[in-house]
Amino acid sequence: MKRIFSGAQPTGNIHIGNYLGALRNWAALQHEYESFFCIVNLHAITIPQDPQVLARKTRELARLYLASGIDPQVSIIFIQSDVPEHAELAWILNCITRKSELERMTQFKDKAAKQRESVGTGVLTYPVLMAADILLYQTDLVPVGHDQKQHLELTRDIAERFNRDYGQTFRVPDPYIPKVGARIQSLSDPAKKMSKSDEDANGAITLLDDTDTVRRKFKRAVTDSGTEIRFDETRPAITNLLTIYQLLADKQPAEVEAHFAGKGYAALKSELADVTIEFLRPLQARARGYDDAELDRILDSGRERAQAIARATLEEVKARMGLVGVQAKA
Ligand code: AMP
Ligand code: TRP
Repeated sequence: MKRIFSGAQPTGNIHIGNYLGALRNWAALQHEYESFFCIVNLHAITIPQDPQVLARKTRELARLYLASGIDPQVSIIFIQSDVPEHAELAWILNCITRKSELERMTQFKDKAAKQRESVGTGVLTYPVLMAADILLYQTDLVPVGHDQKQHLELTRDIAERFNRDYGQTFRVPDPYIPKVGARIQSLSDPAKKMSKSDEDANGAITLLDDTDTVRRKFKRAVTDSGTEIRFDETRPAITNLLTIYQLLADKQPAEVEAHFAGKGYAALKSELADVTIEFLRPLQARARGYDDAELDRILDSGRERAQAIARATLEEVKARMGLVGVQAKA
């Protein structure tokens, strides 16, 4: 069976962009692939985190994976720092990655421009840890949103370089980026992507927002000039709202346009709030449905199953690189 691997960071509040760009596809693909879904807390600490908040968010994100339809009987759900092989392989891959490759990453360039002298080393080497995550499991396919495309290309380059220099070791993964929903935009600024780290809380609908908050955020959402409700690249705000509606209501674009023909923006916003609330209600109930003991059991079993595979890959990598210990000498 082919494998998929993906992950999200336990920082900020996970939103409908994360769901539509990533988690939704994880749940859909899990029956066709052997699936690994990781809570990437080592990626989270590339920027300072409050330890208590990070610990709480890590468990909350595990609950939201489950609530999004990831079935722990079928898929492996685990916490990145529980499997130390990730950090160990990341070190090794750091040594075959060029600094210039990392400095070219747009996410690094954005963060470095904002933080200048104080930008951490982890922000630079972040994509190498991501490559380690993926390559440890001999992953075939990585379902992610559009913003991870460049990191995936680097992962492929690193895998190919290792295979060429040390012999065939890693499977070279393909990205899976959905045609619709890979880049949901902010409700307050349709030129920016919906983001967990946005200071403006009105830009994103989070998976844990209550009914009133959802209505309020959609009501305030920025729209374009004009009145027609149809998909149109030159009108990014309305197109973004229609894309969210299309995916949550599970309709084709033509059906959505027909449905809103002759209606105004207020109707679009109000119906969008309705479908979002209908989608979030059962999801939030499922998230609350897991008690702590059950969550521990799921994450423990995930760690064990993941680590068995990660260890085997890491052993092979170390042998190929001449990283032998006492046992090999005996
Ligand atoms: P992150 O929040 O950065 O951990 O992202 C988790 C997943 O959500 C990744 O696969 C991202 O590519 C995806 N994602 C993040 N923001 C968006 C967005 N605005 N639209 C679609 N997908 C997104
Ligand atoms: N960098 C990804 C993000 O910010 C999260 C991530 C870490 C990831 N490791 C991964 C995604 C491995 C896919 C596969 O969204």
